[in-house]
Amino acid sequence: MISRLSVFLLSVLLSLLSPTKETCPSMCLCTSDIVSCSSSGLTKIPKSLPSFSITLDVSHNQISWLGPGSFSKLSRLETLWMAHNQISSLAYGAFQNASSLRYLDLSSNKLQRVEQHYFQGLWRLEELILFNNKITQVEAGALMGLSSLKKAYFSLNQITQFPFFSIQDRSHPFLTMLDLSSNRITHLPLQDVKALPGLVQRGLFLHNNSLICDCSMYSMFWHWDLRGYDSQRDFTDQHTCSIYGDPRASIQFLRHTRFFNNCTVERVVSLPVTVLLSKVLVSEGQRVHLDCHTSLSSANLSFTWFSPSQGHITQSNVDETPLTLFANGTLEIQTAKVNDSGLYVCTAVDIKNALNTTREINVTVLLPEVESFSTGYTTLLGCVVTMVLILIYLYLTPCRCSCCKQPNPPVIPTATYQPENPAAIFSPCAGGHIDKHAEFIQPMLIDTSNALHSSPSSKRASLQWDYFSKVRFDQLPYDP
Ligand SMILES: *[C@@H]1O[C@H](CO)[C@@H](O)[C@H](O)[C@H]1NC(C)=O
Ligand SMILES: *[C@@H]1O[C@H](CO)[C@@H](O)[C@H](O)[C@H]1NC(C)=O
Ligand SMILES: *[C@@H]1O[C@H](CO)[C@@H](O)[C@H](O)[C@H]1NC(C)=O
Ligand SMILES: *[C@@H]1O[C@H](CO)[C@@H](O)[C@H](O)[C@H]1NC(C)=O
Ligand SMILES: *[C@@H]1O[C@H](CO)[C@@H](O)[C@H](O)[C@H]1NC(C)=O
Ligand SMILES: *[C@@H]1O[C@H](CO)[C@@H](O)[C@H](O)[C@H]1NC(C)=O
Ligand SMILES: *[C@@H]1O[C@H](CO)[C@@H](O)[C@H](O)[C@H]1NC(C)=O
Repeated sequence: MISRLSVFLLSVLLSLLSPTKETCPSMCLCTSDIVSCSSSGLTKIPKSLPSFSITLDVSHNQISWLGPGSFSKLSRLETLWMAHNQISSLAYGAFQNASSLRYLDLSSNKLQRVEQHYFQGLWRLEELILFNNKITQVEAGALMGLSSLKKAYFSLNQITQFPFFSIQDRSHPFLTMLDLSSNRITHLPLQDVKALPGLVQRGLFLHNNSLICDCSMYSMFWHWDLRGYDSQRDFTDQHTCSIYGDPRASIQFLRHTRFFNNCTVERVVSLPVTVLLSKVLVSEGQRVHLDCHTSLSSANLSFTWFSPSQGHITQSNVDETPLTLFANGTLEIQTAKVNDSGLYVCTAVDIKNALNTTREINVTVLLPEVESFSTGYTTLLGCVVTMVLILIYLYLTPCRCSCCKQPNPPVIPTATYQPENPAAIFSPCAGGHIDKHAEFIQPMLIDTSNALHSSPSSKRASLQWDYFSKVRFDQLPYDP
C-alpha cells in the first residue's frame, strides 16, 4: 500500500518537474501559433506554454509582476499582449531569451518607472506600447539597445522629463513615432529635442502636456507647424501651454498666436540663408524701432530695408521718406499709421565676405482701442452701485412685522428672477457687455515680476484681459 502510494506520488512529482513542452494550459486557447489566455483571471504567466507560440495574449488578467525569464521557453514569441493587468514592475531578465519579440503591449498597467533593465535584449522590438500606466520616470538607458524600435507610446502617464538625448540616429535609426502626449512635461530640453533625428521630430507627439509658455518653446512648435507635421495638424487644439504655469491661464498656442506676437522665430528659407521672422504689434501714433538683428557679425555691414508703404530704403534715399535709418540698421517709424502695416524686410550685406542675410518683421499698426479701460471701469462701477442698491432694497426695506422677536431670513424675490436671462436683474449691465465685465470681475493674480525666469532678458509683462483669448501678453522677451 505504502509503496503503491509512493510510486503514485513519485509519478505526480515527476510529471510536475518535467511538464511536456507542448501542453496548452486549461484556461487558454491554443491554435497553431497563437495562445490566448485573455480574461482568464491569471495572476501570473502560466509556466508551461507551447514553445512554438508566436503570439501570446494574456491581456485583461490580474498579473502583477513579471519574474525573470517569464518567456524564456518561448523563443519564437513575436507578439505579446499584456494590456489591462496590474503589472507594477518587471524583474531583471523578465524578457530573457525572448529576443524574437517585435510587438510588446504593456498598456493600461500600473508601471511607475521604466527602468534601464526592463527591455534589455529586445533588439528586434519594433513597437513598445506603454500608454495609460502610472509612469513618472523613464530612465536614461531604458530604450538603449532597442535598435529596431519604430514606434514607442508613452501617452497618458505622469512623465515630467524624458531622456530625449538617448535617442539618436545611430541608436534608433527606424524610430518614426514617439508619443509623449497627455503627460506632465512642463519644460522641454529644447537643445535635446532639436537634436532629435528628423524622422523622430516629425513623429513626436507632445500635445496635452503641462508646458509653460515661452518664446523658444513656441518657436520650435512654430517650425514643426510650418512643416505641416501631422502631430501638429491633427491635434492643433490640444497644443496648450500655461502662462507662468498657472493652469487657469492656459492657451491653445497653435491657435491663439497673439500671445507670441513679439517672439522672434528663426526661419530657414534655403540653406544657408536664415531669415528671422517676427511680428510687431503697435498702436497708431507710436514710435517704432525695427532692429535688423542678423547672424552676421562683421562691423562693416550695409543695410537695406523694404517697407510696404515706402518701397526700398537705403542710406541714400531715406531722407525722402518719413523714416529714419540708423547706421546700425535700425529703422525708425516716427509715428506709425495704420497704412504703415505690412511686411518689412531688412537685408544686411557683408561686402567683404560676400555674405548677406535677411530679416522679416510683420508690423501691424492698430487703431487705438475704442472702449478704453477707463470707460470699462466706469460701467463696472455702475454695475457695482446697482448691485449695492439692489442689496439695500432686499435687506434694508422696513420689515412689516418689526415687532417680531426673531427676524425672518431675508426673502429672495424669486418671482423676478428668470434663469434664462439672469442678466435681467442687473439691467444696467445687461446686453452685449455682460460677458466682458464678468471677465473683469474674475479674480486672478499672476506674479509678473519673475516672468519667464528661464530667459535673462525678461521684461515686465503687462497682463490684460482679452475678450476672446482670455489672456494676452503685451511684452515678451525676444528669443535669445
Ligand atoms: C537562453 O538562451 C541561451 C542561449 O541562447 C541558452 O543557453 C539558455 O539555456 C536559455 N535559457 C533558457 C532558460 O532557456
Ligand atoms: C489630457 O491629459 C489628461 C491627463 O494628463 C487626461 O486625463 C485627458 O484625458 C487628456 N485629454 C485628452 C483630450 O486626451
Ligand atoms: C541703433 O541705434 C539707434 C540710435 O542710436 C538706437 O536707438 C537703437 O537701439 C540701436 N539698435 C541696436 C540694435 O543697437
Ligand atoms: C497713409 O495714411 C495717411 C493718413 O493717415 C495719408 O496721409 C498717407 O498718404 C497714406 N499713405 C499711403 C501710402 O497710402
Ligand atoms: C545675397 O546672396 C545671394 C547668394 O548668396 C545672392 O544671390 C543675392 O543676390 C544676395 N543679395 C543681396 C541683396 O546682396
Ligand atoms: C502679418 O500679420 C497679420 C496679422 O497678424 C497677418 O494677417 C498677415 O498675414 C501677416 N503677414 C505675413 C506676411 O506674415
Ligand atoms: C510688443 O508689442 C507691444 C504691443 O502689443 C508693443 O507696444 C511693444 O513695443 C512690443 N515690443 C517689442 C519688443 O517689439
